[in-house]
Parts: sequence; structure tokens; C-alpha cells
Amino acid sequence: MNTTPEDAKRPARDTDRLRVGYGEDAHRLEAGRALVIGGVAVPNSAVGAAAVSDGDVLLHALADALLSAFAQGDIGVLFPPDDPASRGLSSSVIVATALERIRKQSGAVEVINVSAVVTLDQPRLAPLRDQIVAQVGRLLAVEPDRVGITFKTSEGLALGHVQARVVVLVT
Ligand code: C5P
Ligand code: MG
Repeated sequence: MNTTPEDAKRPARDTDRLRVGYGEDAHRLEAGRALVIGGVAVPNSAVGAAAVSDGDVLLHALADALLSAFAQGDIGVLFPPDDPASRGLSSSVIVATALERIRKQSGAVEVINVSAVVTLDQPRLAPLRDQIVAQVGRLLAVEPDRVGITFKTSEGLALGHVQARVVVLVT
């Protein structure tokens, strides 16, 4: 395995403690709504996610991935969709609450890396990648070089939707 000088400084990990989590989310797109991806408001989007929260598919999928890694169900357990308190929630709060839940269950939890795919036909998100990576890194307390985010169009197969799929490795 290739190691970098930075790797050499890190303590060896107990691989029995490694856990992988996967999450995905999708929202319908509607005119006149804000489009928020990874905590970043996408400027000049004609459409945004129809949702009771801010409809941030990337952060919803990330929160589900974190909970899934520790077999803690999904964000509906933390924020029941029919509970009025779940309305208008910032998705950053959802991620923070998921982290709190898994820390309560498993003690210190450290995110090793995140790998995500966001599928959206329009607008282009690549110009916002650094901002989105920085924001996700901040939420998880990891360096940007541990947050990989891919943008894909659906080639017109999922017009009218925005989707995200996220894998996290945690310890
Ligand atoms: O899906 P496709 O392979 O056609 O995507 C081509 C490129 O467009 C990718 O490099 C991706 O980063 C970018 N892209 C984007 N915004 C999107 C979808 C794709 O910047 N909403
Ligand atoms: Mg959602």
C-alpha cells in the first residue's frame, strides 16, 4: 500500500473499529425554491428541492450514512417527518444530530473519509465543488482531502430530481 509522509505520522488504526455507512436521498425539483447542496446555496438555480426541510439531498444522505454505519436507523428516527419540529430544519443540524447520536452510542467517533455522488442535470455544480467540500469537511471535522464529491448528470433520465449517494468510513 502506498503511504504518504502524513500517513506515517498517524497512529495505527484498530481495524475492528472501522465501520462503513451508506446513505442516499432524492428530492423533486420545483421552480421558486432554493437549491442547497452540502450546505451551500446554489446561485441562479431556476429550481430547488421540494421538501419540508431545506431539501439538501447531500446532507440527508450523509446523515443517513453516519447513522447506518452504527445501525442507528435513519434520520426519520431523529426527526419524524410528521413532527412539526422537523419543518424547515437546517440539514447541518440534521448531520450534527446524527453525529451526536452515534457518539452517544459508540463514544468518540472519527470520520476517516467521505465519498459522495450528486446526480443533477442542471445547473452545473462543479464550480461549487471546493465550497461544498469545505462545508462538508467542516461539519464532519475532516480535512477537505478526505471529502470526495462527484457530480453527474442523469443524461435526462431523472430530469426534475436531485439525488445523492454517500459512503462514509468511520472509526
Ligand atoms: O454526468 P456527466 O458524466 O455528463 O458529467 C460530466 C461533468 O459534468 C462532470 O465532470 C461533472 O463534474 C459535471 N457536472 C456538473 N454539474 C452537474 C452534473 C455534472 O458540474 N449538475
Ligand atoms: Mg431529503
